[in-house]
Amino acid sequence: MPTDVRASHKLRVLVCGPLHADALARLREACDVTVTTAPAKEIFEPERFEALVTLLTTIVDGALLERFSALRLVSTVSVGVDHIDLAACARHGARVAHTPDVLTDATADIAMGLVVAASRRMGEAERLLRARGFPSWSPAFMLGKSLRGKTLGIVGYGRIGRAVATRARGFGMHVVAAAHGDATPDDDVPRVPFRALLGASDVLSLHVPLRASTRHLVGEAELRAMRPGSILVNTSRGAVVDEAALVSALRDGHLFAAGLDVYEHEPRVHEGLLSLENVVLLPHIGSADEDTRRAMAMLAADNVVAFATGGGLLTPADISK
Ligand code: DGY
Repeated sequence: MPTDVRASHKLRVLVCGPLHADALARLREACDVTVTTAPAKEIFEPERFEALVTLLTTIVDGALLERFSALRLVSTVSVGVDHIDLAACARHGARVAHTPDVLTDATADIAMGLVVAASRRMGEAERLLRARGFPSWSPAFMLGKSLRGKTLGIVGYGRIGRAVATRARGFGMHVVAAAHGDATPDDDVPRVPFRALLGASDVLSLHVPLRASTRHLVGEAELRAMRPGSILVNTSRGAVVDEAALVSALRDGHLFAAGLDVYEHEPRVHEGLLSLENVVLLPHIGSADEDTRRAMAMLAADNVVAFATGGGLLTPADISK
C-alpha cells in the first residue's frame, strides 16, 4: 500500500447502508464507490477500502479496523460519534468526519416538540382518543403542565442546546444551562452547576454527547434530585440516562413525565417505558426530515471528496488533529 493512497488511484470508498442519491452521485464523481447493506464484518476483501461512509448503526471499533487495514477515513452520517472508537481510529491512522450543524434545527424542533408533548400529555391523549376513549370535553380532563414562566434546564449548551433555548423562549420559558468547565459564557443565559440545575428546572433537556463521562449522567440520584413533578427530555443518546431508574421515577410519580427520542439499547426500548402513560416515546427521529437527512448525507460525502482530493476535512470529529 503506497503511503499516500490518493496519489495513484481514486479513493476506494465503502458506503455502509443506504445513502441519499445526491450524495452518492457526489461521491462517485471523485471516488471508486461500493455500496453495501451487509454488516461491515461480512464485507469481502475489506482491506481494499480506504474510506468508509457509515451510519450510526455501524460500530467502528478495533476489530473492524483490523479487517479494514487500509482505512484512512471514516465519514459518519451523524453528529454523534459514540459508535466510533476515536482513539482506535487515531492509532490506526484513520481520520474521522461527522455532520454537525446541518441537523441542529431538526433536532431542536423534536426536543421542543417533546417538551410540549410531555408537558401536555399529548401521547397519552392521542392513545386515549384512538382507543375510542374521548368521553367529552370537561374542565379537569387531561390536565397537563403549562410552560410559560417555567424553567428549562439545558444540559449541554452547544449548538442544539442553544437552538432549543431559542424555541423555549418563544414559549415564555426561562432558560438556564449547566455550567461547563471554567469557560466564560458568551451570552446572558445563567450557568449553574449540574446538580443545582437538577433542582432548579421544571423541564430538563439533555444535549450532551455520549462518552464515558456522560454515560448514566442522569441516574437514580440525579433523577431524585430533580424537582418533584418535573419533566425530562432526552434527544441526545439513550445511555446518558439510566433507563431503569427513569422508569421508577416516572412510575412512582416523582417525575410528571418524560419525552424520549433515544434509548439505552436501541432499537430495543425498556419494557417499563413502553407500559407507562406519562412518557412520550419517539423512534430516534431527531434529524429525520427530508432536507436535513439530505444535508447530512451531502456533508458526509463532501468530507470524503475533500479528503480524496487532498483537502482538509470540512467537519472533522477528531478535532485534536
Ligand atoms: C446524530 O446525528 O447523531 C443523530 O442522533 C442522528 O439523528
